[in-house]
Amino acid sequence: ELSPADFAKCIAARRAVDFIEDGMRLGLGTGSTAAFMVRRLGERVREEGLKVTGVPTSSRTAALAREEGIPVVTLEEAGWLDLTIDGADEVDGDFQLIKGGGGAHLQEKIVASASDRMIVIADGAKDVARLGVFPLPVEVICFGWQTTQKLLSEALEGRGHAGAAITRRMAGETPFISDEGNFILDLHLGQIHDARALSLVLNQIPGVVENGLFIDLCDIVVLGHEDGLVRIRD
Ligand code: A5P
Repeated sequence: ELSPADFAKCIAARRAVDFIEDGMRLGLGTGSTAAFMVRRLGERVREEGLKVTGVPTSSRTAALAREEGIPVVTLEEAGWLDLTIDGADEVDGDFQLIKGGGGAHLQEKIVASASDRMIVIADGAKDVARLGVFPLPVEVICFGWQTTQKLLSEALEGRGHAGAAITRRMAGETPFISDEGNFILDLHLGQIHDARALSLVLNQIPGVVENGLFIDLCDIVVLGHEDGLVRIRD
């Protein structure tokens, strides 16, 4: 009863869980694809007695992991992680990602950066030649967010994105607030020419906490397709 897109996410997630070994300290991603991964991991913990610890990247994932009986620890307690498995909003041919569609990219980037390896799981539709159709999330401090937005606009202009729309993410009638208590600004870019350079420029602006570009973090991409095929790129 899964939709074709959810089926594709589910088979990618299940395949990625095969990479998990006894004793691993894991980063647990956020989003609908990551949720399939957490549920499958829960099955393995219950059925095989697999011993792992998980560091969730959001309050949502923490709740799901506990429900699944996966031992949850903080990143501080884990110290370092063997493997993080997470979804993405876009993946390009160089394993660069846009993340943060679920508003969790700050914790996701911290966790992925503290892992020996990162596996990205996604349905085939997220596989793009060039990043940028998906609006790029930027987490900003609430204080002075309008001036931060103005500085973001100027920075984008300097990088060939003059006039790009920036929208503050909403949750219904009120602004979306991240797990860390910040706003999210979504940058509507269309296409990103140099993700590495853009990421550096954005993170230099006062008020910006973290942008959703993941550079040099992903090691393996597991793509699920609606026809049942799973492709692994590493
Ligand atoms: C969460 O903040 C995001 O980075 C997610 O990883 C991303 O939005 C993918 O979500 P889905 O798996 O629901 O598409």
